[in-house]
Amino acid sequence: MPIYVKDNIFVLETERTQYVFGIDNSGLNRHLHWGAKCDPADFFIETFGDENSNHTMLDEYRQEYTVFGSTMYRECALKVRFPDGCRELDLQYDGFAQEGDTLEVQFSDRHYPLKVRLCYELTPGFDVFTRWVRLENTGDRPILLEKVCSAEFSLPSQKPYTFRNTNGAWGGEGIECVQTLTGGALVFESRRGISGHNQSPYFIAYQNADEASGDVYFAALAYSGNFKVSAARDLYSFTRIHVGLNDFDFSYTLQGGESFETPKVFCGLAKGFGDMSRQMHKFTVQNVLPQAFAEKPLPVLYNSWEATGFDVNAENQMRLAEKAAAAGVELFVMDDGWFGARNNDRAGLGDWFVNSEKFPNGLQALISHVNSLGMDFGIWVEPEMVNADSDLYRAHPDWTYHYDTRTPHELRNQRVLNLTRADVQAYLFELLDRLLTENNIRYIKWDMNRPFSETGADNLENPQMLWYLHTMAVYTLVDRLRARHPQVQFESCASGGGRSDLGALSHFDEVWPSDNTDAIDRMTLQKTYTLLRPVKTMRAWVTDVGGPNKPTSLEFRFNIAMQGALSLGGDLTKYSEADMEICRENVALYKEIRPLVQFGDLYRLADADEDEFLCTQYVNKSKTESVVFLAARGTRFYKKRVILRLAGLDPVRRYRLEFDGKMIEKSGAYLMEAGLAAHIRGADYNTVLRLFAV
Ligand code: GLA
Repeated sequence: MPIYVKDNIFVLETERTQYVFGIDNSGLNRHLHWGAKCDPADFFIETFGDENSNHTMLDEYRQEYTVFGSTMYRECALKVRFPDGCRELDLQYDGFAQEGDTLEVQFSDRHYPLKVRLCYELTPGFDVFTRWVRLENTGDRPILLEKVCSAEFSLPSQKPYTFRNTNGAWGGEGIECVQTLTGGALVFESRRGISGHNQSPYFIAYQNADEASGDVYFAALAYSGNFKVSAARDLYSFTRIHVGLNDFDFSYTLQGGESFETPKVFCGLAKGFGDMSRQMHKFTVQNVLPQAFAEKPLPVLYNSWEATGFDVNAENQMRLAEKAAAAGVELFVMDDGWFGARNNDRAGLGDWFVNSEKFPNGLQALISHVNSLGMDFGIWVEPEMVNADSDLYRAHPDWTYHYDTRTPHELRNQRVLNLTRADVQAYLFELLDRLLTENNIRYIKWDMNRPFSETGADNLENPQMLWYLHTMAVYTLVDRLRARHPQVQFESCASGGGRSDLGALSHFDEVWPSDNTDAIDRMTLQKTYTLLRPVKTMRAWVTDVGGPNKPTSLEFRFNIAMQGALSLGGDLTKYSEADMEICRENVALYKEIRPLVQFGDLYRLADADEDEFLCTQYVNKSKTESVVFLAARGTRFYKKRVILRLAGLDPVRRYRLEFDGKMIEKSGAYLMEAGLAAHIRGADYNTVLRLFAV
């Protein structure tokens, strides 16, 4: 049984780990353990008093979910304001409810009508489990929520932990930052309205860990708006982490009788970063992604953005589609420029009507042509935005977030629609529903190209709720469209990977991880993307970007893009016959290895940044097949010969592979322990090894 409850102690057991907390005799929730399994009967709750007038017991206790108030001075997980002005919480334990793998531990305020439920869900077969919090106002006067985390975590060791997160940017979404927290706090957050390109809504904390070993604690927040992950190491040397909605400019009015449920957090303890990624890949596919396409291989797509920009028309899209079909593409996606007066980024956003100059016969002629070539058709939209130069804005200038007294700041010449308004939601649903009803569209690329500003929303009694309500409105719109059009896949894009969190992946099938399609940069960005997100959700285009860093060959670009959901994005009309042959061969190869790449176990054997070459291996579930990608951007100092020690194979099976132009056969044990000596030579080196069990 994975959940044991005894004497107010809750023991949650995953496959290999244990998570324990309890309620002490004063009714306080206390964190007890997160680590390897112990005998549940051994746990007890120690209580002690204040050390002195400055070191309070409430500061020192490791709590399961710390609320603001009393003599607790460190970071809290929950802070509210009651109608009479009281800003402190004082919770008493009310009992628990357990149903199968789900546990709810209930508390209520000793004086005010607020219930707090800490929720946990175990998923059999995983060391990943899910946490969230439910609040309920059981009175009739509003309670203002000022900070609500989805979870608080206490790490076991009193020695400092190192944290992996990102310090990314547009075009550099996966640039990592690694720092050791010895004191004070580390904060990773977004204040932009979306989760953004910069910091990431997760923590990965460890002491001595690498790809294959060491305890790695992690948690990823399923939320695409303003988030905050804050870790602090206190004077007693304990590291605590809070994960949830950002409290920056946040509040939420919980009316009498209403409930509020936080976004979920998927958390776990793994053996090494590789184990963490493999668990999260499988967990996300099985439990987080919309299920319609979760277990299905994603099609090879072509996207026209880099080829035609805003200059799309029926004719040029048909020509591109013919070339894409000839390369073996399965889904043709027309990007920006097909609607309203959209000839550049200065006009048209909001007018989701087909531009009749560019498409005199509507989209029908193009879609029929694409379908006749054997491909599905997809299209780009950016529903949350409006250009001031649009019919929509002219008709409804009040539909954006704004203050009458402030100048609206535009970014990319656009403003953010106030999606907390029911009329805006209805407009967008009606137009997108019509677009999908009238046309055989199988794919929506849902873009979002600017952070919020001038966040006035006078339709709301409490406008600070807009940050949260906007994100929920996006999710609801996508869910409603999916329910009406279950054949349509949805991709989340926000100027590249600005909305690529686990919340997006609860509603979208895949992500556009970066506008940066430079293969050299992608070697780094794709590694970070797949730390906690499934490989299959990572769209990767082969484009004509020769590389702001260094030009790479078409084969090299395929090698890198095939490590995710392969897509094409170059101007195929300019490709030579030899280039087209490279496309055909690689797309055909990808279709063969796609089940391995999209659903296999990923092993990161070498890192482009640390090792000068990238080596990524994928193994299928039954360990009968594997594919290894090797690529180098030019090695230095005559370091060319490397021993490739593979991973994830069955040690007793024998595998056949073509290596250095020869067919060889070796045991899994040999390939993993002794390894193969690879000769990595020259710039632009890339090769794909395929292993088959004999
Ligand atoms: C954003 C996206 C691109 C492309 C353009 C179109 O920048 O990230 O992929 O769709 O918008 O305007």
